[in-house]
Order: sequence, then C-alpha cells, then structure tokens
Amino acid sequence: MPELETCSGYKYLIETAYDRETIKDMERPAIAQIDTFKRYPETEKLELPRSWQLKEARIVPLLQNRRSKRKFTTTEIDFEELAFMLWASQGITAKSGCYTFRTAPSGGALYPVETYLSIHRVKGVTPGLYHFNVENFCLDILTENDTSDKVAAACLDQKFMAQSAVTFIWSAVIRRCMSKYGNRGMRYILLDAGHICQNLLIAAEATGNSTCPVAAFYDDELNEILGINSNDETAIYAAAVGQKFSN
Ligand SMILES: Cc1cc2nc3c(=O)[nH]c(=O)nc-3n(C[C@H](O)[C@H](O)[C@H](O)COP(=O)(O)O)c2cc1C
Repeated sequence: MPELETCSGYKYLIETAYDRETIKDMERPAIAQIDTFKRYPETEKLELPRSWQLKEARIVPLLQNRRSKRKFTTTEIDFEELAFMLWASQGITAKSGCYTFRTAPSGGALYPVETYLSIHRVKGVTPGLYHFNVENFCLDILTENDTSDKVAAACLDQKFMAQSAVTFIWSAVIRRCMSKYGNRGMRYILLDAGHICQNLLIAAEATGNSTCPVAAFYDDELNEILGINSNDETAIYAAAVGQKFSN
C-alpha cells in the first residue's frame, strides 16, 4: 500500500489547492464549455406529473425556496437551531454492532468528514471556533476568539462570509477513507461532503436561515485557522449560514 502522499487522489487535492501567492498564475486547462442541459432532441418525450399529493411533498417548499444567499440579518440565531442543523448534517441516527449511522450517507460508513464551526452570532455561545463532536453530540471549544473575519479572508476574501451567524467548515480525514478504498476513496470523500452540505442547506431552509456553500478558499490558510495538518486532514468545503431577510 503506497503512502498517502504518493497516491493520485491525494496529489489531486494538493495540485488543485488555492494559494494566495500563486492563484493568479494558476494554470487552468483550456477546456471548451458545454451546455448546462443535456438534450436528446430526437427522442420521444414522457411528461412527468408536476403536482404531488404525497405526504413527502412537505419537503417541496424547502427545495423550491433554497437559494444561495450572500446577505444575512445581524440577528443572532438560536443555539437550538444550530443544534438541529448539526444533527441534520451529520447526526447519529442508528447503531449496529461497531457501526454508527448518520443522517447523511457515507461510503463504507467511514465518515471521513469532520465539521468545524466559526461561530459569530449564536445566542448564548461565545464567538469562536468549535468542532462538532458527533459521538457525544456536543461542541469541542477550540478557541473563544471570533474567527469570522479570518475565515472570510481565507475564503478568497469573500466579505459576505464575515456576516454569517455561523460558518460550517468541513474537512476530510483522508486516511479514514483512502486506507480502505485507495485512490477511489477521494471520490467518496467529496461525495460525502456534498451529502452533508445538502442536508445542512435543507435544515437551514426549514429553520428560516439562508446559506451559501463555499468551496473557494486558500487551503493552507483555512487549514491553519482550523489548526489541522493538511497531510492528514484538509478543509474541503464550507457553508455560510445566517438568518434570512423576510421578503
Ligand atoms: C461546490 C460549490 C462551491 C461553491 N463555492 C462558492 C463560493 O466560493 N462563493 C460563493 O459566493 N458561492 C459559491 N457557491 C454557490 C454557487 O454560486 C451557487 O450554488 C450557484 O450560483 C447556484 O445558485 P443556487 O445555490 O442559489 O441554486 C458554491 C456552490 C457549490 C455547489
């Protein structure tokens, strides 16, 4: 089994990392654009019904209304809402033998994704950096200094992020998945992060919060804020969350 650093999945992460110094000169392959929709103009069509009478259709307004929003009110969000969003994104829902299962699926039930919170405006919680302790459903307090400005700066200076009530930052503990699946494991890690983020977006919509997923960041800077070593664990995704403006 080759060491992690020699694996193509790992090298891919390193080669695509953003760095403040080199981002402007970063080579982007000249790949021609293509339509957003794949079309089969010649085929016959089977219309789909658009009205659902199903009980499950309660999720429809959440899906219909979800939109990436980059403006939030300055109101603090409730701690209960945050707890609900954490549970929805990664909470444990079942146990079987040595396995635990969560709200979001994970390749091989390995759960390589960790959740960090840069808390800015949450009622009763000191602004700072926290880690979601999934096992005990609590927060590990990493620092009680507000990290929201630093996180926004590390995310390519996207100023709106500093105005979020809380920013979720997801990292991957790469070995957790690649030690079992090798290079293919990199696919599973990124897919897992997508599931987790989508659960959060829906839970945020259900609690009257706006969100914006963010994948543009200077990798080393964000890792440094999280206090993680990019050889073992590296930031892969984030989402800013804040109270929605009423229409
Ligand atoms: C993988 C991924 C990365 C994204 N990164 C950013 C980002 O860095 N900054 C930002 O403002 N929006 C970011 N977005 C939000 C997209 O711009 C947004 O999803 C898209 O415009 C579609 O709009 P909608 O989410 O409202 O449907 C990201 C979305 C995804 C799925």
